[in-house]
Amino acid sequence: MSCAYDAESGLFTIHTQNSTYQMVADEHRYLLHLYYGARTEGDLRYLVTYADRSGMCASPHDVQDRTYSLDVLPQEYAFQGGGDMRSPLLVVRDAHGTFGCDLRYVRHEIRDGKYALKGLPAVYSDTEDDGAQTLSITLTDARLGLEVELLYGVLPKLDIITRAAIIKNAGAEKIVIKRAQTACLDMVHGTFDAITFCGRHAMERRPSRRHVGHGSLSVGSRRGMSSNQYNPLMILCDRDATETSGRAWSMSFVYSGGFLAEIEMDQFDQVRMQMGLTDEQFSYPLKPGEQLIAPEVILTYSNAGLERISHNLHRCMRKHVCRGPWRDRPRPILINSWEAAYFDFNGDSLARLADKAAELGIEMLVMDDGWFGERKDDLRALGDWTVNEQKLGGPLRQLADYVNSVGLKFGIWVEPEMVSEDSDLFRAHPDWALSIPGKDPVLGRDQLVLDMSRKDVRDNLFEQLCGILDQANIEYVKWDYNRSIVDVYSRLAEDQGRVLYDYVLGLYDLLERIIQRYPTLLIEGCSAGGGRFDAGMLYYTPQIWTSDNTDAHDRMTIQYGTSFGYPCSSMGAHVSACPNEINGREVPLSCRGTVAMAGGGFGYELDLLELPERACEIIKGQVKRYHEIEHLVREGLYYRLSSPLTDAIAAWGYVAEDGSEALVSAVVMNVEGYGVANYVVPRGLTRGALYHEEYSDTVYAADAIMDMGIPLPVGSAPYMSRMYHFVRIDG
Ligand code: DGJ
Repeated sequence: MSCAYDAESGLFTIHTQNSTYQMVADEHRYLLHLYYGARTEGDLRYLVTYADRSGMCASPHDVQDRTYSLDVLPQEYAFQGGGDMRSPLLVVRDAHGTFGCDLRYVRHEIRDGKYALKGLPAVYSDTEDDGAQTLSITLTDARLGLEVELLYGVLPKLDIITRAAIIKNAGAEKIVIKRAQTACLDMVHGTFDAITFCGRHAMERRPSRRHVGHGSLSVGSRRGMSSNQYNPLMILCDRDATETSGRAWSMSFVYSGGFLAEIEMDQFDQVRMQMGLTDEQFSYPLKPGEQLIAPEVILTYSNAGLERISHNLHRCMRKHVCRGPWRDRPRPILINSWEAAYFDFNGDSLARLADKAAELGIEMLVMDDGWFGERKDDLRALGDWTVNEQKLGGPLRQLADYVNSVGLKFGIWVEPEMVSEDSDLFRAHPDWALSIPGKDPVLGRDQLVLDMSRKDVRDNLFEQLCGILDQANIEYVKWDYNRSIVDVYSRLAEDQGRVLYDYVLGLYDLLERIIQRYPTLLIEGCSAGGGRFDAGMLYYTPQIWTSDNTDAHDRMTIQYGTSFGYPCSSMGAHVSACPNEINGREVPLSCRGTVAMAGGGFGYELDLLELPERACEIIKGQVKRYHEIEHLVREGLYYRLSSPLTDAIAAWGYVAEDGSEALVSAVVMNVEGYGVANYVVPRGLTRGALYHEEYSDTVYAADAIMDMGIPLPVGSAPYMSRMYHFVRIDG
């Protein structure tokens, strides 16, 4: 059993294989956080200190004890109104406009299996014997008639604990939820670093590591999407934590809209880490009987460095967030028309691209933007999901059938949540776009955002999308989203403070309907590259276009950063043309292949018909190699063997869970003068074993190469790359 309650002490204890989480409902019925760390037994209440820390630390009236203040004590669900002046998870305004609540424990329940959340993505338990459990703890505020159900989901074998909160108005008057975050983790002491993942369009998720000091350090998104700028993944770790040593805790938000992740050191050097919905442009009214779900946060803990955090998250995301048949299948190697032709294609040119792709062993043609309505550039036609048969030279089925006939699958691009002002949809339904009456709307890429909180809008999109998907054998969809939400106003909403949240629920509703109707469809998420690379989207789309930046050099850092929280199986990564269209960099095709093969959504995004014969031969070799190693990329344990941001070489590896096989890739990033030899040092191989390296036909002792490594050729040019495929010699 993972979850336990001791009625005498009020202790709640959650065990996973390597971690323990403990809290207590104390004699005042406040729920205090006690511990989240290495697996242990016993009563950990001694960790909390009680002292009179001056009248500046307020105490609840009924407690009558100056040593007891919520401003100091570690909270399990920090709320505004009880005297805790640190950053709260919950802020409630009552019917009279007054702020302030007081949440106390009333009941709990422990049940087998992992909870699900209505209308929201959540980690799921895959098999009946994975030992998953749910702990539900209910807190109430008697004055407000407010109930907060804290949900804890436990996947013990994966060292994963999830949290969510259901905030219910069980009273008689309307209340407004002004802030509804999901989880906090209060540390009574420690010297920490915070790692966040920051960037911009075409340069996403660069790790940013900072010391935690007094005050608050936060990242988030007010864009209506999780964003290219800040990812909803945050790690707190010991200041000296490395890939393989030190303690670390992470939070990942299973949500694709705006968020806030914060780390605050308080007046007594205690640290609170928290994550949840952003409160900007948020105020959620709850009438009596209504509820709001604070979306799920995934927690994991490691006392063996950052690598274990990533392993835990990868295992969880791969098998307990991603769903559908493609979760466990090799994904087709694709050729995408975007960087190959942008808007400049027709049915005939796509057919030629498919012919060439087939010759090279590529398995799917994706027709990107530009195939519908009057969409000849990015100024128009979003919302008009009708096939431009003139451009394609016939019906969609004709093209798809042709592509299938040369042995390729066929896929299309869509951007359903958007509308162009120059579109039939907008002309017919201008009120379907989010825009504020009397204010000129703010454009992004010359487009507006559809009001996904409206069911009629979603119904229309569902019908339009089905109308396309039913026309031909479409086996893949790239679901794009190319701007932030600025104007938050829905014509139908009673309160505009709920629109951004309801938008995200609307998006999930539409995706779910599509998945239910087309259960074998592979959907790749995309948002101006990697603007919605989050666990929420992974629940619907098992792969996500990692970035619009396809330059191999930059991609190594983007994929490196992404790997902290997300499995390689989920990363779309393509080989594109040189010089790269974003930054002009030249990288050899072999290296571009090595870097793109690091993702589970491998493919090409360049005009294959322009390539010289030599390049075609290299691509054939890459396709063959990807088939040999993709199972390791998709299912292996991932190792960051160096940092492409700071080290002379970038190196990364994947090891089968049973250690029987491994793939290691290395790229020379930086060269200096003569002679320094760079060594690739793998991790995760079976100690004491010998491995056969397939490409060089060499036998290596695992212990030796995990200690001293393997030298790369001295004097290698920048972007020289190597892949090593190790197969353990058993018996
Ligand atoms: C943004 C995506 O990230 C690109 O890959 C491409 O699909 C374009 N949109 C198409 O407009």
